[in-house]
Amino acid sequence: MSSERAGHLANLGYRDTYVAHLRSRLPEGWTPFSDFFGNLNRLRTLSGLLDRHLKGRGLTVLNIGCGPFATEIFVRALQGQQIVSFDYTAEFAPFYPVFRADGHLTKTAFLRADALSVGFRPESFDAIVIHDVLYETGLDLDDLLERFAPTLKPGGLVYLDAMNESTRRLWRMLGKEKAYRRYRREDVMASLRRHGFEVAEWRPVFGASGRLLRLFHAVLWHGARLCNTFAVVAVKVRPVKTSP
Ligand SMILES: C[S@@+](CC[C@H](N)C(=O)[O-])C[C@H]1O[C@@H](n2cnc3c(N)ncnc32)[C@H](O)[C@@H]1O
Repeated sequence: MSSERAGHLANLGYRDTYVAHLRSRLPEGWTPFSDFFGNLNRLRTLSGLLDRHLKGRGLTVLNIGCGPFATEIFVRALQGQQIVSFDYTAEFAPFYPVFRADGHLTKTAFLRADALSVGFRPESFDAIVIHDVLYETGLDLDDLLERFAPTLKPGGLVYLDAMNESTRRLWRMLGKEKAYRRYRREDVMASLRRHGFEVAEWRPVFGASGRLLRLFHAVLWHGARLCNTFAVVAVKVRPVKTSP
């Protein structure tokens, strides 16, 4: 990882220990997840966008579908924030005390919860992060915004990324398509506007894996303006109407 890319990240010296904890504690058959979550390249777009848009420390941040806490530990802009993280996967929950014992997650509260049913007080967060979660077929962005937009303070920020509907056919042709939920970018923008947000910035995501694959994503973008995943930061500019 180049120093430029590392620039948006934190605690890089802990990365190997982080991966070792995952390797030794994840259930059998889950081993590939150790390298997946330990691949800090996958956090580059999130880290860069939060560095640009999340200003201040001690902010309250909700992390939806936190997985094994890679974002809380390695994203620089999240250091020093008061984070509430939740995820419904039982296998990730045991890592909370493990990383805390190593001195991480000191300002992170964790609960095991389902995004489809959990609730928080209105206007309790400065920011919401939904990183690498919306590919889940069981989740729908519009429903999530309905549930979580009211929990953001006015002026609060949401980060999300989503797989692009416009590359579904190409991914299928490449034999890479799985049961992903994909979104049209216009629909995501429209959904955000409906829920009181104004888009501050969006970016193509150039992939997390090896250099060749990242090059492929870059060529796809610069040559055909196609991206398989896009990331958006939006600001809550209007109060959200709640259903009667
Ligand atoms: C690829 S992981 C990403 C984890 C983390 N956001 C990151 O970027 O490192 C997707 C996570 O979303 C979680 N997830 C999916 N659907 C969920 C739901 N309905 N409620 C809570 N968590 C959910 C999964 O358990 C998984 O940990």
